Parts: sequence; structure tokens; C-alpha cells
Amino acid sequence: MEDLEKKLKIMYTEEQIQNRIKEVAKKIDEDYKGKTVIIISVLKGAIFFTVDLVKKMKTPIILEVMQVSSYQGTQSTGNIIVKKGLDTNIEGKDVLIVEDIIDTGYTLKYLKEYLQSQNPKSLKIAVLADKKERRKADVKVDYTCFEIENKYVVGYGFDVDEIGRNIPYIGYLEEE
Ligand code: IMP
Ligand code: MG
Repeated sequence: MEDLEKKLKIMYTEEQIQNRIKEVAKKIDEDYKGKTVIIISVLKGAIFFTVDLVKKMKTPIILEVMQVSSYQGTQSTGNIIVKKGLDTNIEGKDVLIVEDIIDTGYTLKYLKEYLQSQNPKSLKIAVLADKKERRKADVKVDYTCFEIENKYVVGYGFDVDEIGRNIPYIGYLEEE
């Protein structure tokens, strides 16, 4: 991991990340006033963001996790599978999906449709990072911490072949 860190440039420091999450948490609290929200954290990358976000929120939450992945082989085909589904009923509930990053949008589009079919009362999306220029599928994101350039990010949940998630800041790999 030290080798990986040497190749990284800092995009957002720990302090910048926490300050921005605090702002987003405040906005979420305003929007969900008087409600309890089911937080669905998308494993594995979003764990880090989820923990910091919910600790900064005052709104009562119920924490759930899901894991999805895209089929290997052809890149970003939009073929998504649910590896770990929900074990709670979200019908009639206020639900907020918390994801690390939206890139092509295929993952969140699939996830949103999948959860929408379970008839929640409301369904919104919060992401740590948005690579807007890469979008292929149309999905509405309700809360975004950072709009980022088309760079591969590592740290604070983001991995390169599963390594680097515990780097405390968001870094990016410079093109070699
Ligand atoms: P999408 O379906 O293309 O929006 O894919 C989103 C998923 O791709 C995220 O949940 C991440 O797992 C992964 N991903 C996209 N960009 C990056 C990145 O820069 N670093 C690490 N993972 C990324
Ligand atoms: Mg992911």
C-alpha cells in the first residue's frame, strides 16, 4: 500500500472530506425533518462515507447494507447483479441510498429501479463523488459531496483491486 500511496496525488484531504460531509448531513437533516430514514449503504466502498455521514446526521436512521456488482469481462456493460440483497421491508419507508461514486451511472440506475419496485415512500441517492462527464445512464442524484474530474480515485473507500480503501484521504492516480 505504501507503493500505491507514492503514486497518489491528493484530491481531497481528510479535513476537506469531513467538512463537506458535515454540510451534506445538515442538508439531509433539513430534508428529512421529523422522519426516520432507512440508509442503504452500498458495499464495500461506501462504508467509509456512510459511517461519517450518519454520525453527522441528527435524523434517526435504520442502517442497511447491500452489495451489487457488474458482470466481469466486458467493461461497464451495465449488467448488474445483486450479491447481497436487503433483509428488511422498505415498503412505505423513506429510503436513502448511500454510494461512494457515480461513474457511468449503470449501478445506481439499476439499484434505484430494483428498490423502487419495493414501493418505498421515498427513494433518494447520496454520493461522495460524481464523475459527471462519464455518465451513460440517466439517474438523479440528490446529494453530492464532490463533483470530480475523470480521474481514477483511491482512498477513503476507493480501491485499486481491493487495496487502498483505508487511505484516509481521497487521492488520484496520475497518468503515467
Ligand atoms: P458505475 O456503474 O459506472 O456508475 O460504477 C460505479 C462503480 O465503479 C463504483 O461503485 C465503484 O466501485 C467503481 N468506480 C468508478 N470509478 C472509480 C474510481 O475512480 N475509483 C474506484 N472505484 C471506481
Ligand atoms: Mg461501488
